[in-house]
Amino acid sequence: MCGIVGYAGSRQAAPILLEGLAKLEYRGYDSAGLCIHGPRGLETARAKGRLQALREKTGDGAALPGCLGIGHTRWATHGAPLERNAHPHLSDDGAIAVVHNGIIENYLTLKERLITEGCWFSSDTDTEVVANLIAQYYRQSRDLLQAVRQTVGRLEGSYALAVVCRENPQQLVAVKKDSPLIFGFGQGENFVASDVPAILKYTRKVAYLDDGDMAVFTATSVFFYNAAGDPVRKVPETIAWDLSDAERGGYPHFMLKEIFEQPKALRDTICPRLPGQQVVLDDLNLSDRDWQSLRRVYVVACGSAYYVGCLGKYILEKTCRVPTEPIQASEFRYASPVLDAHTLVIIISQSGETADTLAALREAKRQGARTLAIVNVVGSAIAKAAHQVLYTWAGPEIAVATTKAYSTQLAAFCLVALRMAQALGTMPPAEWAAFREALGKLPDMVEQTLSQAHIAQVQYYASALFDHHDVFFIGRHLDSATCLEGSLKLKEVAYVHAEAYPAGELKHGPISLIEPGTLVVAVATVRELFDKTMANIKEVKARGAEVLCVTTQSMAGEAEKTADHVLTVPDTHPLLQPSLSVLPLQTFAYYTALARGCDVDKPRNLAKSVTVE
Ligand code: AGP
Repeated sequence: MCGIVGYAGSRQAAPILLEGLAKLEYRGYDSAGLCIHGPRGLETARAKGRLQALREKTGDGAALPGCLGIGHTRWATHGAPLERNAHPHLSDDGAIAVVHNGIIENYLTLKERLITEGCWFSSDTDTEVVANLIAQYYRQSRDLLQAVRQTVGRLEGSYALAVVCRENPQQLVAVKKDSPLIFGFGQGENFVASDVPAILKYTRKVAYLDDGDMAVFTATSVFFYNAAGDPVRKVPETIAWDLSDAERGGYPHFMLKEIFEQPKALRDTICPRLPGQQVVLDDLNLSDRDWQSLRRVYVVACGSAYYVGCLGKYILEKTCRVPTEPIQASEFRYASPVLDAHTLVIIISQSGETADTLAALREAKRQGARTLAIVNVVGSAIAKAAHQVLYTWAGPEIAVATTKAYSTQLAAFCLVALRMAQALGTMPPAEWAAFREALGKLPDMVEQTLSQAHIAQVQYYASALFDHHDVFFIGRHLDSATCLEGSLKLKEVAYVHAEAYPAGELKHGPISLIEPGTLVVAVATVRELFDKTMANIKEVKARGAEVLCVTTQSMAGEAEKTADHVLTVPDTHPLLQPSLSVLPLQTFAYYTALARGCDVDKPRNLAKSVTVE
């Protein structure tokens, strides 16, 4: 959601900013813009739509000469996605230019006040208020740092800001609160950006800004200050992964690349934590006594990460016998959750920046709960804020539709279950060992599932079934949670209306929507409930539905007697079966989207990282 890049150096800034913005496209956007400080002062160019429009408008940046500038991709919140609402925004005197990610909640009050003071506005955005406030303070002190500091003191809400000033051709100021921003240390050049890929071509040395931090920099110097205004030292961290990890590498789409990266991502997440016959979570500082003190678990997350929590409930209650409640982060704070020192709140997030999830984490801490975050992005806000962090090692996930992050979150959850069950002694040793052993084998099982034959079969079904307007996903127990993810994937990338229901719920209402030809995807991998799911398949077939069933190889023969089409996955430990049954749902969504001509990696209206509430 909104991408920021800022540059100060000796090269032409505009092409570098355009390149950086291209690396942030995955975040989702609907307009883009640049402001360059060059020989003609501050010059801006903005365009609605894809980055290509901005490239064309600026001759790939050549029309905006200058070695210092800021760039932005905007995901509309305040005001339609029009050129006049695109960033950068200038103050009404043209002295200050600002790019912003986040929401200024009190912008209307500030705007009204500024208008009475004679200020005029040309956009519908909250950001233009920031530019005008900075300009007002700057006119008083002629000190950009001080003007930005005074301005953020009046802002409520979330922001990552990069600011340039007409009178300061060398200087860029960046500040953040509740929206991500990193600083990149170059040689004779420096950067700010919303995320690492934007600047990785130029530097691996970065500092993650904390809330309230400001960076004031030129091509050759940088000074950091904390929220109190005190100078702080930031030790550069070295990014371990390569730009190629964040590029398509020969695949037509990031989503497909990331689907096939799942075996490696799972190996990296699981294997180092299962040495010998053990489970070792040395990232966590929790003793057996800490685990034993827990009476209740909440799993708090959004979207697919929340669906991991829905699976997590079954897994944790089965293995640890601890009441576990998954809850969407956007609801958590308003739901009066019962929290105390005996409650563990497990926070799940790929980006580590999701606004609702971060706010829920803070609320859980405020109410005295213990917090454990399962996060993919190292150094992200959630990773920093949680008491304990268990990283998923999925590598950068670029496609908006999560695949490898989801899979590694689920694997990380199983690691937590194993560790907790060990501390609690809730599993017979042989059962614990079998679960552990199966988890160790999971990466190979995923690799085996994603075989050529499997892909060919899914492609066949997608080409035959892509034209359905409504799809119902049904399953029982763990399969019902997998259905939630399968249905979300289809909605996100293929724009197909899809609903997921526990199979037994169907006849309590939704079955009225089944008509001749409606597509039903039934996931039936839970052996004890297989016959019941088959009975539900018969019910929808009796009303004319066409049924595609996902089941295990050992139950495929039986499923074929009932469903119209069957996709199989290998058999594994029952608690790990969802990690395999989700794979055909991912690939089915991907190939259905292709058949429907959708932009798989940049689905409409969606952003990869949802940094506003
Ligand atoms: C899944 O495909 C989504 N794009 C989305 O639901 C995502 O899982 C959700 O927004 C949470 O993001 P996070 O893991 O970065 O917090």
